[in-house]
Amino acid sequence: MNTKKILITGASSGIGRETVRYFAARGWKVAATMRNPEKAGDLVNIPGVAIYPLDVTQPHGAEQTILKAWQDMEGIDVVVNNAGYGALGILEGAGDEQIIRQIDTNVLGTLRVIRYILPLMRERKKGTIINLSSIAGKMGLPLYSLYHASKYAVEGLTESLFYELHPFNIKVKIIEPGPVKTEFNGRSKDEILPPDDQKYIAISQKVSHFYNKTFKYAAQPEVVAKAIYRAATSRSNKLRYPAGFQAKMFLLLYRILPGTWFRRLTRILINI
Ligand SMILES: NC(=O)c1ccc[n+]([C@@H]2O[C@H](COP(=O)([O-])OP(=O)(O)OC[C@H]3O[C@@H](n4cnc5c(N)ncnc54)[C@H](OP(=O)(O)O)[C@@H]3O)[C@@H](O)[C@H]2O)c1
Repeated sequence: MNTKKILITGASSGIGRETVRYFAARGWKVAATMRNPEKAGDLVNIPGVAIYPLDVTQPHGAEQTILKAWQDMEGIDVVVNNAGYGALGILEGAGDEQIIRQIDTNVLGTLRVIRYILPLMRERKKGTIINLSSIAGKMGLPLYSLYHASKYAVEGLTESLFYELHPFNIKVKIIEPGPVKTEFNGRSKDEILPPDDQKYIAISQKVSHFYNKTFKYAAQPEVVAKAIYRAATSRSNKLRYPAGFQAKMFLLLYRILPGTWFRRLTRILINI
């Protein structure tokens, strides 16, 4: 049997790490990439898993790693652009550095990895590229303007590539989770401090309370790993894969309700 091969970015924790386990358990060869390979921990003991350094904000290093993994595994069938994080807070309080880092990691990082893998997949006339978006790529919620900007970009670039890569038998897929129990709402969160606490304090507190509530009922990372597996093994041209109950519910409401109703409902839920 032909062993399938996958490369995953941001595999040191959360969804990426769980996805490594999920594919390896199903007999795939996995290139688990992370910016700090010391975080691999017990992934090094899983048969079929190899660890590679890859920081998506470092173009040269990222390209070298992708070429090396391609050579080592004699091709890559699926690439998962998972590396990412969320900047949370009032836009007025965001410095250039925070804005640039959010876009550099979530958008430019994704574009870089795609650009490096594309010539190789195109030559082979097959491949699948799976990009982690979020429900944040389909609707705007308060205090996440930078993160939304990044995930809307991921949605747009992926949908564009759907047509561009179709003639070369390269599939693209978008994964849209809602809240997931990972480091996302903890260690990985980049909190933007308001410029003047008093002006924004009421909305900041209410929104934080709302997000903390939604994260109480967050999906397990395995739910997302399963959605990624469905996308990776699908023969169809389906583009979007919502992952988790909350994602499906929010996306359904967003689709069926008139915009003014949805926004009113959101304000009622958050109490703003
Ligand atoms: N959790 C959620 O609620 C949720 C919902 C929807 C979508 N998502 C998306 O799911 C993806 C994974 O997030 P997660 O929930 O699994 O959070 P996580 O546990 O914080 O994992 C994020 C991963 O991205 C890596 N990363 C960050 N910057 C990087 C860079 N410059 N180069 C390479 N890797 C980098 C982190 O590496 P380090 O360990 O080195 O920091 C970590 O491995 C993200 O794209 C996120 O936007 C998450």
